[in-house]
Amino acid sequence: MAKAEDRIALVTGANKGIGFEICRQLARRGLRVILTSRDAKKGLGAQKALAKEGFEVLYRELDVSRRSSV
Ligand SMILES: NC(=O)c1ccc[n+]([C@@H]2O[C@H](COP(=O)([O-])OP(=O)(O)OC[C@H]3O[C@@H](n4cnc5c(N)ncnc54)[C@H](OP(=O)(O)O)[C@@H]3O)[C@@H](O)[C@H]2O)c1
Repeated sequence: MAKAEDRIALVTGANKGIGFEICRQLARRGLRVILTSRDAKKGLGAQKALAKEGFEVLYRELDVSRRSSV
């Protein structure tokens, strides 16, 4: 299996709840995490919260119910 830092995880609905915690735990394990949310303001807030904990994750806007967004 690839090393953790070579793996990329894209997490949907990640501005809060289970998605947010998944981002935190995968980042802690050293994966490259892309935190996504349908609301950019909320998602960027979540990205900032993780950065304060020392986890650098990327951010992208993503609404799973809109084909164009996916
Ligand atoms: N919490 C539990 O104990 C538990 C147990 C079993 C199953 N589940 C299920 O697991 C899922 C997540 O639970 P949760 O507790 O983390 O829920 P949550 O705190 O309500 O978070 C749901 C996340 O999904 C996002 N979302 C909703 N519609 C979306 C869309 N069209 N595109 C992208 N993101 C979207 C929400 O964004 P907004 O903030 O913009 O609304 C939010 O970030 C739910 O389906 C829930 O029913 C939860």
